[in-house]
Amino acid sequence: MRDTKNTMPEALRETVLPLPLTARGKVRDIYTLPDGNLLFIATDRISAFDHVLATGIPDKGRILTQLSLFWFDHLRDTIPNHLISADVADLPKELAPHKAELNGRMMIVKRAQMFPIECVARAYVSGSGWKDYQRTGAVCGVPLPSGLRESDKLSEPIFTPAAKNNVGHDENITFDQAAKTIGVEAATKLRDLTLTIFARASAHAASKGILLADTKFEFGLIDGRIALCDEVLTPDSSRYWPAATYKPGGPQPSFDKQFVRDYLESIHWNKQAPAPALPADVAAKTGEKYLEAYRLLTGKARL
Ligand SMILES: Nc1ncnc2c1ncn2[C@@H]1O[C@H](COP(=O)(O)OP(=O)(O)O)[C@@H](O)[C@H]1O
Ligand SMILES: [Mg+2]
Repeated sequence: MRDTKNTMPEALRETVLPLPLTARGKVRDIYTLPDGNLLFIATDRISAFDHVLATGIPDKGRILTQLSLFWFDHLRDTIPNHLISADVADLPKELAPHKAELNGRMMIVKRAQMFPIECVARAYVSGSGWKDYQRTGAVCGVPLPSGLRESDKLSEPIFTPAAKNNVGHDENITFDQAAKTIGVEAATKLRDLTLTIFARASAHAASKGILLADTKFEFGLIDGRIALCDEVLTPDSSRYWPAATYKPGGPQPSFDKQFVRDYLESIHWNKQAPAPALPADVAAKTGEKYLEAYRLLTGKARL
């Protein structure tokens, strides 16, 4: 349903479809299609500090899906991916009444056997990497030179895997721990792929005036071959910084939840459920930021 008083679309926070619900993540609703493939829907939910907020960001899910599609295409010569179709015409007949709400935010994907590892690459020291570095001088067991400042650029991008936790924070692990979980051969392949894809994506972002500080990929096996799955290189899974304002020595403004985090800090939310709602201006400014990232990275003016 659309708000008639306002040109802003309403946020879609949850889908209810006549299909078996396979998972409801923080952002995605995932259903199983009659043929066994998955229907992957990016909703407009937004999470901060590991909680889904009471307010959605209108069209955020569309921006995430369109950016993932852009990157799948950009990277298709480097790595196969799980995408089958993003066209509502390919949905089964029983979803006809839902086409409008799903348009632009859905992907039909091949079900993969997911590696239980988040494949993170970092070119700058920030976020959990900065925290680990301050404590130990290393990130995920990769030693770094002393004297780095927050947001400093590393001499080369590093692979810093994380274990997928079902609840709460994902946990940074060393390469050896990753190798124990998935085998040294798979861990080596995923590390090499992660760094290769990261280099390609960074080069594209840089050509658009954006620094890719870090990102998280998820890989799975499809018919025995490694494929890039999940969302890719969205502002939710990546730290993108405007190159023009880059200034190491502190946190950088980014193309995602900065307004949200600032607001939540300003009201001193204790970061326990239930998560608060967002004022309209914070939600609107956040939506603008996601759209700006989409426009800059894809070169397209609108969704
Ligand atoms: N092709 C795929 N087959 C099976 N599972 C997938 C595939 N691609 C991504 N996934 C999983 O789907 C979930 C995506 O939903 P999301 O809302 O991002 O959840 P989360 O809150 O765990 O990040 C993740 O758990 C991811 O590992
Ligand atoms: Mg996710």
